Amino acid sequence: MSETRISRRAALMGAGAVAAWLSSPARAVLQAVGQVQTPAFINDLIGRMTLEEKAGQLQIMAAAWAGGRALAGNPPQGNSDFPKQVEEARQGLLTGVFNGNGANMAQIMQTAAVRESRLKIPLMFAADIFHGHRTIFPVGLGEVASFEPELARRTAEAAAFEAAGAGIDWNFSPMVDLARDQRWGRGIEGGGEDVLLGRLFAAARVRGFQGDDLKSTEHMLACIKHFAAYGAAESGLDYNVVDMSESRLREVYLQPYKAGFDAGALSAMSSFNEINGVPSTGNHWLITDLLRGEWGFKGFVVSDYTSDQEMIDAGFAKDGRDAARLAFLAGVDMSMQSGLYREHLPNLVRSGELPQAKLDESVRRVLRLKAMLGLFDDPFRRINAKRETARSMLPQARALAREAGRKSIVLLKNDDDLLPLPRAGRRVALIGPFAAGPHDLVGPGVFYGDDAKAVDLATGVRRLLADPNGLIIAAGSDVEAPLPGGIEQAVAAARRADVVVLAIGEGANMSGEAQSRTDIVVPPPQQRLAEAVAAVGKPIVIVLKHGRALALEGAVANAQAILATWFLGTETGNSIADILFGEHSPSARLPVSFPLRSGQEPYYYAHKSTGRPNPPGDLQPYKAHFRGIPNAALYPFGHGLTYGKIEYSGLTISAPTLPMSGAIVVAAKVTNRGARAAEEVVQLYTHERTASVTRPVRELKAFRKVSLAPGQSQVVSFTLRASDLAFYGRDAKPRVEPGTFDVWIAPSAESDGVRGTIDVLA
Ligand code: BGC
Repeated sequence: MSETRISRRAALMGAGAVAAWLSSPARAVLQAVGQVQTPAFINDLIGRMTLEEKAGQLQIMAAAWAGGRALAGNPPQGNSDFPKQVEEARQGLLTGVFNGNGANMAQIMQTAAVRESRLKIPLMFAADIFHGHRTIFPVGLGEVASFEPELARRTAEAAAFEAAGAGIDWNFSPMVDLARDQRWGRGIEGGGEDVLLGRLFAAARVRGFQGDDLKSTEHMLACIKHFAAYGAAESGLDYNVVDMSESRLREVYLQPYKAGFDAGALSAMSSFNEINGVPSTGNHWLITDLLRGEWGFKGFVVSDYTSDQEMIDAGFAKDGRDAARLAFLAGVDMSMQSGLYREHLPNLVRSGELPQAKLDESVRRVLRLKAMLGLFDDPFRRINAKRETARSMLPQARALAREAGRKSIVLLKNDDDLLPLPRAGRRVALIGPFAAGPHDLVGPGVFYGDDAKAVDLATGVRRLLADPNGLIIAAGSDVEAPLPGGIEQAVAAARRADVVVLAIGEGANMSGEAQSRTDIVVPPPQQRLAEAVAAVGKPIVIVLKHGRALALEGAVANAQAILATWFLGTETGNSIADILFGEHSPSARLPVSFPLRSGQEPYYYAHKSTGRPNPPGDLQPYKAHFRGIPNAALYPFGHGLTYGKIEYSGLTISAPTLPMSGAIVVAAKVTNRGARAAEEVVQLYTHERTASVTRPVRELKAFRKVSLAPGQSQVVSFTLRASDLAFYGRDAKPRVEPGTFDVWIAPSAESDGVRGTIDVLA
């Protein structure tokens, strides 16, 4: 795909464009499954299956190969006996396995299934390919900072190319859980805090993983997870409950899932959490009424890892049998890892507690997908050890990782234009636990990637320095503990240098599943390191590593320059060096708000006003703020600087009023007053002043990335339809209400940019 096409696509995103995006070719996959009849041979097969074989098709287990390496990211369950698992495949008691070990393992298991089992039904191999297979791209949240859904489609496609080459048919991804509490550790996998971004990136990732044809040996089935509202866990505690109005659920949290299904995803994973007292995995309203009924989903639903069984501890199911019955009746077709379906479904049907027809329907859904994946035509189509190696970490994949990495880096602060650094003439001290070494590069949730094959920061910096040997390196601290003598060495290094690059933040093990934090700060030993280094008085660039928005304080917040770099994957060091030395100008924007303090969480830009907002200016008593700080972000959603100087002016609105069925054009002039080229993400926000349900203080409606040469101006215009202003009323149904709307075209969710108003007419 050519660069021009990429930038044209990237420029399209926003109001109205969502519809265009969703009518893309990938949607054809979804339409196809709606129209295509289940092939006759599948019904014939179902007619010949025993109850045990049917239940087997509805049970997926972690791969036992290599002693259950698949369980690295999950609580151990004791299925590490590979010969036993091969025997289960032979007996037709498995639909497939997940997180296995490549083509060789798949070859052995598939051979047992299709040559030695009674009905020769092929297995399906699944895996968690979150942000790359062997070539690791930026973590999901980091990539969203690019504000470029097309980039996510490309990295998903590249991940599918490698993973499908390694025998993987089905990806447990994309994770599209919208999350607004930065304490939660899994926000790192998803699309950030905003509805529009969440929708666009969900759709893009589905398109990248699945392509246009599920039979393609370069693509795999996508799985929308974790359905639903997993990211809304109370207090950001992983696995915690969700209790919210149906209108908020529909207006905010359900949106990215819906966009993923509309883009053609044909599998879904039910989430660990409950919603309003009912666990998702046992939630008939969620899985059957909403997903299948209202949304017309034609794929199959798998439970998350033992989430059916977990309904016992949650106090919803009496025992394993009851849990299997409740999950199955709710509409969950397949059970992951608990073994409960295999154990109980046959007897539940025999006793009449579950209808046989319902069991057959779930088996049909799963077999139909296996047929769509081409597995009945050629069960070995994705299994080829030579191809697995040949596709692994190709130069073009690494180049894409480098591009994606630098497009994900957000320049939060750049006082006195400290960045970009010159490549020669200044001695650089690279300090911090993330300065050097093959660790914490690929980030959490990676099963097949390898830190040892990734580029660390020191290597990337050395490659661009005119005098690589002049680079001074000191770790200074461990991630969560001090290093003996570390601070002294770091201070000495800073003294010898002209500029300090301080690589600090969170380790890879501090985000991801089960990694909720109470204080979302730079870990205290590193904060102490930063204070000591700052006391030396040299200019400091903070290169922040993080899986969530952080509350920055003291010397970190006060540094002259700050780059938010997430976990960038295989090309981490090169991507960061590209930005540090100005090979490329930063172009990313925050997909999550950086709060002033941890205690503000959940803090998100699209919050409500309350009846007592603090007016602009000083803090006032009895207004909605915490003691001593405004109810605002340190760095809000949408924020990100460039190496240019961008000015907003001249808002125009094509008409003062907007009829219900009409559209309006909102435009502003954006000028680069700086001396360097820049890419600006121009953002359109609205706020309805009065409505029958109070509205957020701002909502992102559209954005566009534009390139501006020094001195160049561009008028950026957005078409806004009345339907873009819809919200969910008290009846949980969408509506547009007439009224006055504030409109901003701005560089972030909390900056003024340029502002006007529109009246929507009845
Ligand atoms: C996670 C899922 C993942 C599954 C299989 C679960 O713990 O929540 O996201 O797909 O494990 O590894």
